[in-house]
Amino acid sequence: MNKVIKISPGQTELAWDFAREISELINSADSRKKTLNIALSGGTTPKLMLSVLGDNFADTVSWKNVHFFWVDERCVPPGDSESNFGMANKVFLDKINIPAKNIHRIRGEKNPEKEAVRYSGEISRHTPQLNNLPFFDLIVLGLGLDGHTASIFPGNIELLNSDKICEVAVHPVSQQKRVTLTGRVINNAENIIFIVTGVNKAEVVSEIIKNPGIVDYPAAFIEPTNGVLKWYLDDDAASLLNQWA
Ligand code: 6PG
Repeated sequence: MNKVIKISPGQTELAWDFAREISELINSADSRKKTLNIALSGGTTPKLMLSVLGDNFADTVSWKNVHFFWVDERCVPPGDSESNFGMANKVFLDKINIPAKNIHRIRGEKNPEKEAVRYSGEISRHTPQLNNLPFFDLIVLGLGLDGHTASIFPGNIELLNSDKICEVAVHPVSQQKRVTLTGRVINNAENIIFIVTGVNKAEVVSEIIKNPGIVDYPAAFIEPTNGVLKWYLDDDAASLLNQWA
């Protein structure tokens, strides 16, 4: 597996490093008139990255050929403070010049089971296929303290190998329903980027990087079939990696 680890000296520097890489990826594709399909995650770390993109790269990136999807969504209305789309729209999408048709949100306000089916169809209609699965150019993932990613929690490990594009998951603590991409779709992407900050994540980061495929952490099973896995870490989240580097 092709794996890259990038460590930045602080979360702000990490956010800028991430934003620079994403803007270069998009502008390079745009120069070749290539459509890019990108799936975003929610959470505070992705929010930081998207804020830097929205505040500083809105006018230096050509967004017209980019399509944004979501890795997962909480089953709440888009105006809810919990909404991953609502967060991204506020800190990022509302600040860039992108056609509305290029924004493919998960409708958190709808029946979760029906939305999982509908969204699977929307993804199929708007992305190319590879290995008989939807192919994303980039999937941006966060990492939970329990080793979850997307909304694939330790208790939902079967979602890693589901034959569906999207499934309904349940947060183990809040019991909140989520619609999430499944593991096989995530692993089919060209570029998978984990963005992780904070010393509280150092242990789970080092465990996963040291032991890909350990049963406790769903994120440990994110291993691209044909693409590249990149870990974007700040120095705190990477602080236990020095022992293994
Ligand atoms: C979500 C995310 C989830 C998140 C991680 C990390 O909907 O919450 O998709 O996978 O990215 O839990 O979140 P933090 O960066 O806030 O720790």
